Amino acid sequence: MFEEDQDVHEVLPKYQSDLLKYNAKTILTSYSLPIFLQAPWIRTLPLRMNSEARRKYLYTRDVMQKVVSERRTDTGKRRHDLLQILIDSADPETGEKLDDEDVISNVLLFLAAGSDTSSNTAFFVLLRLLRDPRVLRALQEELDPLPRQEGGLIPYTRLKDLPYLDAVIKESTRLDPVVGALARQADADMVLAGYHIPKNTIVVASPMAAALGSEWGDPLVFRPERHLGAEGKNEDRIMVPWSLGTRNCIGKTTPFRLPQNFALMEIKMVIGNFLRHYSIEDVPGLVQNEERRAFVTIRLKDEKYTMRIRKRT
Ligand code: HEM
Repeated sequence: MFEEDQDVHEVLPKYQSDLLKYNAKTILTSYSLPIFLQAPWIRTLPLRMNSEARRKYLYTRDVMQKVVSERRTDTGKRRHDLLQILIDSADPETGEKLDDEDVISNVLLFLAAGSDTSSNTAFFVLLRLLRDPRVLRALQEELDPLPRQEGGLIPYTRLKDLPYLDAVIKESTRLDPVVGALARQADADMVLAGYHIPKNTIVVASPMAAALGSEWGDPLVFRPERHLGAEGKNEDRIMVPWSLGTRNCIGKTTPFRLPQNFALMEIKMVIGNFLRHYSIEDVPGLVQNEERRAFVTIRLKDEKYTMRIRKRT
């Protein structure tokens, strides 16, 4: 969008309208897709799509029921994981625990909400690093001196304190937030940023538009350093890849005694350990489509990307 040497403030008005178009397209694609979210009765029609979805849903529930029953009966099978936390958690006032139905529903929700989001985010981090060998090198310099535990993995306690890795992931989620639209329905007439919003209106916010405002200076440039040191403390800048408020991502906050920033730690473990052991580069001469599209989450339009991976010595 920007030409070299162009002043960002000159191009911003055009750029913002491009951005609005992009976001409108993204939002329309993502919201035309799960049509049953807007017209739930479609789910009741005798369509193949519905019977297939039901079959898969029942199969997954069945598998989960077996796993949960096993956990409840066989105390030898206790494990320190998310499922065990759900099974053990009790209401602090009543002591009431979740029944099987609640545990299974939550697990399925975590699977649905936490799979594509995490894997697409990890992929976009790698893609950004492929495009920027300087950042990749700086990140590997941070990772290389870390101790290794059994299996060559970086110890969890050390992963928590890796500022450059944090900054790389932050910068990647700023430019490629995998949730492209946050939708809310107004439960009353209200005025929002000067606009009258009638009750029941669906308002859609775009994490991508929010994270590309002029307050970033060079919003389209991948530059993890902007999240570090004094520059990192600039409170005027906005990014909401995990959403905000009471319905924000529970993979980012701490429900059910989950480790803080569960989803973020997951990405850090994958990227940190992977790049500690492997280097990545593009396949020479192979031209690949990097266009994004929204299919519930944002992903590559072609859903595939080939990169060369080498074991580091
Ligand atoms: C990089 C990974 C992830 C990203 C970028 C992400 C992003 C988001 C965003 C933006 C929302 C809010 C949607 C909205 O406001 O409409 C959300 C909701 C949610 N996320 Fe994540 N998520 C990630 C990983 C995870 C993981 C690993 C889990 C589960 C363990 C998870 C569980 C959930 C749940 C249950 C909700 C719904 C919360 C509610 O409606 O109250 N997410 N996520």
